[in-house]
Amino acid sequence: MKIGFLGAGLIGTEHVTGISGLISADLIEAELFGVYDPNIGRAGEFKKKFGFKRVFSSAAELIKSDDIQVVFITAWTGAHRELVDIVAQEAKPVFCEKPLGRNLAEARSISSTIEAAGIPNQIGLILRTSPSFGFARHLLQDTSLGRLMAVVFRDDQYFPIQGHYKSDWRKDHATTGGGTFIEHSIHDVDLMRWMFGDFTQVRAISRQFAGYDKVEDLTIATAEFARGGHVTFTSIWHNILTRESSRHLEIFFENGRIVVEDEVFGPVSIELGDKPVKIFDQSDIGRWYMDASPEIMTIGPAVTAPTTLEDYRFLKALLDGRKPEPDFKVGVAAHEVVEAVYRSAKEDRPVSLPLE
Ligand SMILES: NC(=O)c1ccc[n+]([C@@H]2O[C@H](COP(=O)([O-])OP(=O)(O)OC[C@H]3O[C@@H](n4cnc5c(N)ncnc54)[C@H](O)[C@@H]3O)[C@@H](O)[C@H]2O)c1
Repeated sequence: MKIGFLGAGLIGTEHVTGISGLISADLIEAELFGVYDPNIGRAGEFKKKFGFKRVFSSAAELIKSDDIQVVFITAWTGAHRELVDIVAQEAKPVFCEKPLGRNLAEARSISSTIEAAGIPNQIGLILRTSPSFGFARHLLQDTSLGRLMAVVFRDDQYFPIQGHYKSDWRKDHATTGGGTFIEHSIHDVDLMRWMFGDFTQVRAISRQFAGYDKVEDLTIATAEFARGGHVTFTSIWHNILTRESSRHLEIFFENGRIVVEDEVFGPVSIELGDKPVKIFDQSDIGRWYMDASPEIMTIGPAVTAPTTLEDYRFLKALLDGRKPEPDFKVGVAAHEVVEAVYRSAKEDRPVSLPLE
């Protein structure tokens, strides 16, 4: 299976690093064949560093090439639409980074184009492979927790146009479609849907501190789950360069509380009634993760990037003829909540879900 990459930036590098590891360990029969990036220097670096056979001179040339069987779209968000259209014409399996598009209409159209073409597809909603969040989801099975009351979800990072970010497109609304909520907290919305299901209503405010037109760096949104219970998302882009992406999750039930201190390593704790708080550290979470996900046992030493597990699942599903997950439709469901949040903030009113 020969792989083509569209976009040789930050997340493209993570995917390629992970896939290289999988190929070197003979876990996936594939080849990193082609790359295209309008930034020719970046594409050249990819070829040199990861051994791609060829740098293509346009996205269309790469996608249409008989040498490419599967496409990874790791270009910035504003380019996804045009790239997906060409992929659909060529009917090649596709992995696309989140957000699918710059707004709900674009995401819906991208997803339906791919569905209509009948192409296997997967979206980069990476928190579904996070050990800590997966472990917290596993703890939810304890029925003695009682009914869900409220979730407090804080997501903060520095404004991603500096530090280890080598690009500044995230301050440009025409390329992003928004700020911290669509770009970062779309992951959090998906995680909440994965844990607790759909929402019925949202209410939100958003603010701009850095002053980039229509690119908010603070959103606070409260959403109600159809099953009962609420979540408050606090999504922040600040200027504390020593704080990279950080998430903190606190889930309150009638009789208990679950806390996730860090998205990868935890610790994760559970407090039930008046029993002592149980704290699970990195090694407890790691042990559970290996039991819960047999693929981790298989690919363990080849995990060289945070994206390795999602890439393995995608490529293995293609090789085995299975449907990859999570697919674009899952992405569209998260986009719908993001759109409702932006609409609520703009119109200063609650917005019901699903949207028409
Ligand atoms: N899943 C995650 O955790 C995660 C993390 C980071 C970024 N992302 C998403 O991945 C995408 C890329 O983000 P990034 O941080 O890697 O940005 P980046 O700026 O580091 O890299 C994007 C690259 O895309 C290239 N590009 C632009 N138009 C292109 C086109 N038509 N064809 C091919 N390449 C093109 C740019 O030149 C740039 O090199 C965004 O949609 C972003 O939201 C997801």
